[in-house]
Amino acid sequence: MILVTGANGNLGAATLAALRARGAAATGGSRTPGDGTRRLDFDDRASLDLTGVSTLVLVSAGYAEDDQVVARHTAVLDAAVRDGVRHVVYTSLTGAGDHLGFALAHRATERLLHASGLPYTVLRNGLYAELFGALLTWADDGVESAFGDGALAAVTRADLAEAAAVVAADPERHAGRVYDLVGTPVTAADVAGELGVAHRTIGLGEYRRRLLEETPGLLPFQPPMMASIATAVRHGFLGDGGPDLAALLGRPASHPLATAVAVATAARPIRARSGQP
Ligand SMILES: NC(=O)c1ccc[n+]([C@@H]2O[C@H](COP(=O)([O-])OP(=O)(O)OC[C@H]3O[C@@H](n4cnc5c(N)ncnc54)[C@H](OP(=O)(O)O)[C@@H]3O)[C@@H](O)[C@H]2O)c1
Repeated sequence: MILVTGANGNLGAATLAALRARGAAATGGSRTPGDGTRRLDFDDRASLDLTGVSTLVLVSAGYAEDDQVVARHTAVLDAAVRDGVRHVVYTSLTGAGDHLGFALAHRATERLLHASGLPYTVLRNGLYAELFGALLTWADDGVESAFGDGALAAVTRADLAEAAAVVAADPERHAGRVYDLVGTPVTAADVAGELGVAHRTIGLGEYRRRLLEETPGLLPFQPPMMASIATAVRHGFLGDGGPDLAALLGRPASHPLATAVAVATAARPIRARSGQP
């Protein structure tokens, strides 16, 4: 049995669906389980029963400080060893993302995985096309970002889910491998061009000020994390593509532009959509 964690998240749900579409015997684990999924909360060790699981797809449980994320992943890997899981597939972060504010928790988890003695495959996922579109902000006359002219080799979640399903369905073939799953470079100007508006670059200081002073609901770790994405894209650290994703998929990776544009379009204020001042 394959078990995908984080089954109510975007990547986990898509990975479980991709596995089932391939006819694999797969189930999901989630803090909020539904039909055909079991309760699995990395913050609650008592919930971490992996009995009967042969392959665990460990979807990273980010969105917290490093100590909390590493503690979560430690707990689930301890349970995997205890319960006899035979292979772990971990959704990590692209090697080019080492400068990002959330890289450490991924690299620490890769170390834990190695130390666990379990056979594993690391999927070093690039940044999502969905995320790139979401990080553009609308102004009256177009979109703004701190990305400058920098490109992101963005990947669609759907492609990453399919790649995870390919690996989890045949884990022995991918044992010990670390795949770097990045996509095609896109810039903020590319997205703006598709939207038919201009892109204006703002400085990193102004971006951080807006995050700290004008963006309600962000957790304390998020402004530095988001600023780290902006500076890494802006200065060309996340723009290179690579061959691993297409090789796993057996086809070219989907172009990220349409996905980024769709997300930016959905965030467009009604006023800007109708062209009214
Ligand atoms: N590459 C990128 O661009 C990028 C961008 C954002 C995030 N990420 C990372 O990739 C992961 C998957 O992305 P996504 O788009 O699917 O995120 P998402 O839709 O926001 O989902 C968050 C995920 O974290 C899981 N999670 C949170 N707390 C957990 C806990 N205590 N125990 C178990 N699972 C927990 C959730 O599982 P349940 O809700 O099912 O319990 C869910 O799968 C994220 O968690 C994050 O680490 C990557």
